[in-house]
Amino acid sequence: METEILEILKSNPGDYVSGQYISGRLGVTRAAVWKEITKLKEAGYDITSSTKKGYILNSCPDILTYEEVKQDLTTKTIGRRIIHLQKTASTNDYAKQLAAHGEAEGTVVAAEGQEAGRGRMGREWYSPEGRGIYFTLILRPDIELASAALLTQISAAAVGLALENLGLIPLVKWPNDIFLGNRKVCGILTEVSGEINCLNDMVIGIGLNVNNETGDFSDEALARASSLKLESGRTFRRSTLLAGILNHFEPLYYGFLKKGSAEESLDYCRRHSLTDGRRITVVNSAGRTSAKVTGLNDKGQLMVAYSDGRRENLTGGEVSLEDCPD
Ligand code: BTN
Repeated sequence: METEILEILKSNPGDYVSGQYISGRLGVTRAAVWKEITKLKEAGYDITSSTKKGYILNSCPDILTYEEVKQDLTTKTIGRRIIHLQKTASTNDYAKQLAAHGEAEGTVVAAEGQEAGRGRMGREWYSPEGRGIYFTLILRPDIELASAALLTQISAAAVGLALENLGLIPLVKWPNDIFLGNRKVCGILTEVSGEINCLNDMVIGIGLNVNNETGDFSDEALARASSLKLESGRTFRRSTLLAGILNHFEPLYYGFLKKGSAEESLDYCRRHSLTDGRRITVVNSAGRTSAKVTGLNDKGQLMVAYSDGRRENLTGGEVSLEDCPD
């Protein structure tokens, strides 16, 4: 009922709506309406109640519920169901459980904060409540396991395009980071479940530092991490940004499934590459080796050239820029 009341208040911007009208529309008592209004206020909705005039919605909170995201959402499937959690250990873990129980493609698990947010290579993803965006998208693409890595590039392009829409200039650091200037603001963690060459489902977790302040980061983290607010001096509405990412993701993703090629996203990543033409250190089981980035191929692999003349197409692992802290 909370949702219906919100709909009624939202469809009467700047106007009082009487308790009697709402109770009549929903077929419930006025006391029940009052109870739901109290819940909405607790969730952060600024609603004035007047015994004579009824209720007026003054402002909506910036939360990642479907109610708030949907007004900016233009997708058909992606994000049409959002499971909103105030706090969870990790949205990826939550989404993986749901996916294992048959949750449909396109469902998003979004949290205001995470207690055990995870990054690649077992790293922690610091997830303070209400500052960033932490969400995981459940997908069931009919693709080979080997192509799953392309979904990270598609996601990176979707985040990049959404940030560009806000007037920012993002760069993609292969395989899964988005930078503003020399600092990382976003990380992507793609996890698949399946057997050899048969993908059952996959989850794509995206963490984006949005309105974080300097004090939200340790001194050590500040050398390499930042937020949209710190880089631009502006505060962003997180629900709008989440919708923006999903809006860009949907056509890139279904275009990829249809054509069998992620060229559009890869092209975006190439044009906005942080590493292209630069020297990097490749960290893998062979140790740390210096190399020059020569491009990104159509499989989403990073092409590098070592100083001894060898060339390699990297499928994963870790690369770090030699002339910048990352
Ligand atoms: C990385 O940079 O290594 C990837 C970071 C991914 C963080 C996101 S936040 C939402 C989702 N839940 C997690 O536990 N991790 C991802």
